[in-house]
Amino acid sequence: MDLLADLIPLRQHCQAWRTQGLSIALVPTMGFLHAGHLSLMDYARTRADRLVVSVFVNPTQFGPNEDLDRYPRDLPRDLELAAAHGVDLVFAPEPQAMYFSDHATWVEVPELAKGLCGASRPVHFRGVCTVVTKLFGLVRPDVAVFGQKDWQQLAILKRMSRDLELGVEVVGRPIFREPDGLAMSSRNVNLTPEEREKAPAIRQGLLVVQAAVRAGERDAAKLALMFRAHLAEKLTSASVDYADFVHPESMSPVVRVEGPTLFAVAVFLGRVRLIDNILLEV
Ligand code: PAJ
Repeated sequence: MDLLADLIPLRQHCQAWRTQGLSIALVPTMGFLHAGHLSLMDYARTRADRLVVSVFVNPTQFGPNEDLDRYPRDLPRDLELAAAHGVDLVFAPEPQAMYFSDHATWVEVPELAKGLCGASRPVHFRGVCTVVTKLFGLVRPDVAVFGQKDWQQLAILKRMSRDLELGVEVVGRPIFREPDGLAMSSRNVNLTPEEREKAPAIRQGLLVVQAAVRAGERDAAKLALMFRAHLAEKLTSASVDYADFVHPESMSPVVRVEGPTLFAVAVFLGRVRLIDNILLEV
């Protein structure tokens, strides 16, 4: 497995593969890899001849009061895990290598970024779209794999790749969970033991809502209250950032759950913000 930190060698490496007729899959990450990331790699491995993984804590997608400094990092461990999962090349640049000091171009999909995480993290998706566009331009992958845990991110990147004709197939993969149901996240290590123990209540709240929909409840406002009530009872220390029903592709708000609907939540446990979601089928 190769490790590169500079952009020009990365471009050359991938160009050489394409010249040989080899297809390329890309899995962008911010590192501190867990089983969720690895499940994306295992899938991506089956989709192309060569697999590139980026490990880059992208500063432009963090707001001024967010956890950029607290974001966990462990490149040596990430490299071991990537090698064990058949990755051909890890790209791990420093921010100064990734961005020109006078970087001035931004990619945005504002229509899909209005609600959910975009509402509470105003520059977040602009940073995500811009860095992913740069990675697509450097690697020029045939396919790029993302997790459904960040459903809004996935919907935005699919739309971006389609609208801008980037020529990259953007594929989403299921949420990988801890045995107790908590969605795997690099941020879970920042939970206190007590918070970690109670955090599965988030997933249980999603299942409460799913059960209510299956039992016939259609009113999104009532369903959202059920989720909030569940958390208030099981996870008293939590504060709900949002608990919203949206169309799974357009991300527009859903008032009545009559067709495929995404129920997406973000919850603060202390200073740690966790997200999760469930696709409701009627
Ligand atoms: P990061 O949070 O490191 O996640 C990298 C990829 O792993 C994303 O596609 C995310 O959806 C996926 N992922 C995270 N947890 C997962 C889980 N429990 N199950 C399945 N997939 C999971 O998302 C980012 O980084 C960044 O925004 C990035 C796209 C790399 C741009 O900087």
